[in-house]
Amino acid sequence: MKKVGIIRGDGIGKEIIPPVVEILNSFAPLEILEIEAGYSKWKKCGEAISEEDLEILEEVDAIFKGPTATPSGRGTFRSVNVTLRKHFDLYANVRPIKSYGVKYGALRENVDMIIIRENTEGLYSGIEFSIGNLAQSVRVITRRGAERICRFAFEFAKKEGRKKVTLVHKANILKETCGLFLEVGKEVSKEFGGIEFEDMIVDATAMRMVRSPENFDVIVTTNLFGDILSDLALGIVGSLALGGSANIGDEKALFEPVHGSAPDIAGKGIANPVGALISGGMMLKYLGFEKEGEEILNAVERSLKEGKVLTPDLGGNAKTDEFLRYFESKLR
Ligand code: NAI
Repeated sequence: MKKVGIIRGDGIGKEIIPPVVEILNSFAPLEILEIEAGYSKWKKCGEAISEEDLEILEEVDAIFKGPTATPSGRGTFRSVNVTLRKHFDLYANVRPIKSYGVKYGALRENVDMIIIRENTEGLYSGIEFSIGNLAQSVRVITRRGAERICRFAFEFAKKEGRKKVTLVHKANILKETCGLFLEVGKEVSKEFGGIEFEDMIVDATAMRMVRSPENFDVIVTTNLFGDILSDLALGIVGSLALGGSANIGDEKALFEPVHGSAPDIAGKGIANPVGALISGGMMLKYLGFEKEGEEILNAVERSLKEGKVLTPDLGGNAKTDEFLRYFESKLR
């Protein structure tokens, strides 16, 4: 039986993770090990995730996580996400962004792209310091890091039958860091003759993503750019809640919705669980339950396309549990 580590996280994570885990477990037999991590744990115990928690997660095949809140600014703790990505070297963050037939709030239809973001380097390397009134962050790009994420993106594109990889950078200004990323991406692209390759500057990418998101297929980029562009893309398809993600390393993977703990709606029972369902479907596929994972993803698509029962972020008035019951009726 596959072992899965569960982290409910904070805010709406506590509302959406338990019922989604129940659905996943009814589909594929999972041994669940639950740990607590995030802001609420930090308030209680003084640390957001402990060494013992990490030891428990060493034992599992995959981690399924809700959003964990991280206060902004100086003097607080390091984000649980950054800690987990670094600790397990989860270098590839895969974010599928699709229209799913959603009309409410969507700026464009027919969007179907995958954003693959380098997850352990770039501006999120955690090397920051200040001396008096000078504060500095170090943006780290290594040949090894760039090569493995670019190869991951091309291999992913090949496996999924995708046609094009767009490498997003700012090599005209960040000549060393983005320059290296682009150089390596170009080299790797030569190994994948059947897949079209293009590179694009990040600001132009943001504009084109709003004007013609249908033209993007697979995007590979550095940590901060990928973080921002994936929220932008989710805004175009209608809701941040439509984003699921996989954080993949060579030994382990972590799955979580893209959105945060949504303190403005936490406790109201109206959070949209779609990002968690998509992440769950991706996790089942990763664990070898290919058919079951695909079925979860198809049922998400059927539910959203019919659009009879939707949460308020998608223009409906359903509660989380009403949407989940409707979703279950779409499972075959
Ligand atoms: P957020 O994603 O929590 O919320 C942004 C907006 O989207 C809010 O209006 C919220 O109500 C809405 N929203 C988000 N998820 C939704 C859902 N499932 N259903 C319906 N509406 C939803 O972003 P915010 O407010 O910037 O961050 C809040 C906290 O979450 C912060 O502490 C941040 O550090 C954390 N966070 C954690 C992430 C993670 O653990 N993966 C990712 C992003 C933020």
